[in-house]
Amino acid sequence: MMRSETLPDRLRKLRKRIQRPFNAKDGGLDDVAVRAAYARWAPIYDMVFRAPLYWGRRVGVKRVNEFSGTVLEAGVGTGMALPHYSKHLKVTGIDLSQEMLAKAERRVRGGKLDNVDGLLAMDAGNLAFPDNHFDVTIAMYVITVVPDPVKVMLELERVTRPGGHVILVNHFSAEKGLRAIVEQWLERYASRVGWNPVFPKARILGRTHLLLEEDQSVHPFGLFTMLTFRKPRA
Ligand SMILES: C[S@@+](CC[C@H](N)C(=O)[O-])C[C@H]1O[C@@H](n2cnc3c(N)ncnc32)[C@H](O)[C@@H]1O
Repeated sequence: MMRSETLPDRLRKLRKRIQRPFNAKDGGLDDVAVRAAYARWAPIYDMVFRAPLYWGRRVGVKRVNEFSGTVLEAGVGTGMALPHYSKHLKVTGIDLSQEMLAKAERRVRGGKLDNVDGLLAMDAGNLAFPDNHFDVTIAMYVITVVPDPVKVMLELERVTRPGGHVILVNHFSAEKGLRAIVEQWLERYASRVGWNPVFPKARILGRTHLLLEEDQSVHPFGLFTMLTFRKPRA
């Protein structure tokens, strides 16, 4: 007779799912590892990350809704933010992971989100859009996951129109204090958890022509940050 799965069995499986996906060579992620990781995350992503990343999505989308025109959400994932964009916007989502996108597509169909123009499999570091194509671009919880964050920033800058905005919502590491100590300790697990606990803002600030307009702490406990940049007009 088949033994039904116990809670410890299920926890063991979940731990394996979380620990396997990363490119162990340098502890970091490459595109192949990211695709593999999110293929595994996709079935449980909403359950695990709905609540902890809720506030950041909320403030990110609220900021985007203040603007008008076309929006690119890079690393749209399962599309948890999509139902919250205002109807006056036309939103395009891109992601590297087909499995995450399939969930986003279901969400768009189910919610009849007709302000979502398209969902495309694409690398945020190599966008297939012309220069100056979008009024606003946003990436939530993505910049510390990609192999080359500066390349992604440069691409977001390129596809945003002059005078348009680039918005990031992410965790950035502290420079000192208890949080910095905890983050440095967690760094040894970076390749397992799939994001870099030690990722100072300095890694991306000043690496493009984008002008930082606002730097705002986000719940829970100010662990996350929203950065709003403007692309200069000339
Ligand atoms: C932590 S999830 C965040 C998803 C979503 N933004 C949210 O708020 O739930 C990171 C997402 O970035 C995607 N991603 C990672 N690297 C990428 C890249 N180079 N180009 C596009 N998407 C990427 C992953 O596939 C995943 O869906």
